Amino acid sequence: MSEIITETMVDTMVDTMVEAVSDVVSGAVIAAPGLASGGVQGLDYSPEVATRTADLYGRVAAVIPEFEWPVMAPYIDAINRLKAERNAVILAHNYMTPEIYHCVADRVGDSLALARMATETDADIIIVAGVHFMAETAKILNPEKTVLVPDQLAGCSLASSITGADVRRLRAQYPGVPVVSYVNTTADVKAESDYCITSGNAVELVNSLGVDRVICLPDKYLAQYIASQTDVEIIIGEGACEVHERFTAQEIADYRTGHDGLVVIAHPECPPDVLGAADFVGSTAKMSDFVKTRHPEKVLMVTECSMSDNVALENPETEFVRPCNLCPHMKRITLEKILNSLTSGTHEIILETELMDRARLAVERMLAVSG
Ligand code: 13P
Ligand code: SF4
Repeated sequence: MSEIITETMVDTMVDTMVEAVSDVVSGAVIAAPGLASGGVQGLDYSPEVATRTADLYGRVAAVIPEFEWPVMAPYIDAINRLKAERNAVILAHNYMTPEIYHCVADRVGDSLALARMATETDADIIIVAGVHFMAETAKILNPEKTVLVPDQLAGCSLASSITGADVRRLRAQYPGVPVVSYVNTTADVKAESDYCITSGNAVELVNSLGVDRVICLPDKYLAQYIASQTDVEIIIGEGACEVHERFTAQEIADYRTGHDGLVVIAHPECPPDVLGAADFVGSTAKMSDFVKTRHPEKVLMVTECSMSDNVALENPETEFVRPCNLCPHMKRITLEKILNSLTSGTHEIILETELMDRARLAVERMLAVSG
């Protein structure tokens, strides 16, 4: 098994661990400025907390060691209580760690599903347990609601690879050609785009446009994958996902050699030779559905690390072979930061109305296509 961990990832993981440990050591009193009854006064693993969270531990016991639960359970208990008090909903991406995905999330899914869920909720507060662009998308669809992201530094190498000005330059270079942007972009880029796509509906959306050419931004690998699935000419961007671009076809071949009958399923953000070596290509939701419906005996999910844990818990009969490429941005989201969001309203997504109005057009056109 190969594991590639960059310096940035190590820094992020160390920061997160140091923050968590220092809170535990200091008694983990999370102040709730300006909040009266709902504020969290202390985070003890009391017998009451143990009882209230016992069922939740049952959901994740296969991947979370028992000795870690007393640290996590008080946060989980406090989050679930405060969520109800504040009429807040937690929408969590498939890459969240199991204690978030299985124990505090109200709804889980891929980027497309999270955007849809954001249009369906009655909650006053939406907490996006995911990266910044996902929270921006939720805000664009719910300008009147409070949308929070637990860590505002939870970015994305794709979202930071392009600006609105870059889109305007490309439009000038290819007049009249529609701009289709991955949802993994900032609100600024969405506002300059004609359509958004996610990995869950990209091919379908491009085919539905009835045009000969589109500009597809910013992920070069997703764009190449779309090009391989359609007759529409694709003008390809230059960005890449720092997590998926590290997988190699050789790595897939090595896993197959070591595991007879291995089924390989990959995310379209991977390089073309990796996708060529896979048995199935799809968004995180489609990968998860593949396991649920096809019941492979042994599977390798070529995507972010936590996804295998989450899907494995729901499919105990399948053996998971696990490469572990972590997304350092997704891993910034922790129980502690989600609790901080609930107690202190951090970090609220604020966008200009005019920008949101323009970006919403592209996002709503994406939602109109089923995927
Ligand atoms: P999905 O839309 O497939 O969940 O992908 C989001 C993402 O960030 C993948 O890296
Ligand atoms: Fe962005 Fe890649 Fe992380 Fe997804 S996995 S949020 S595309 S950096």
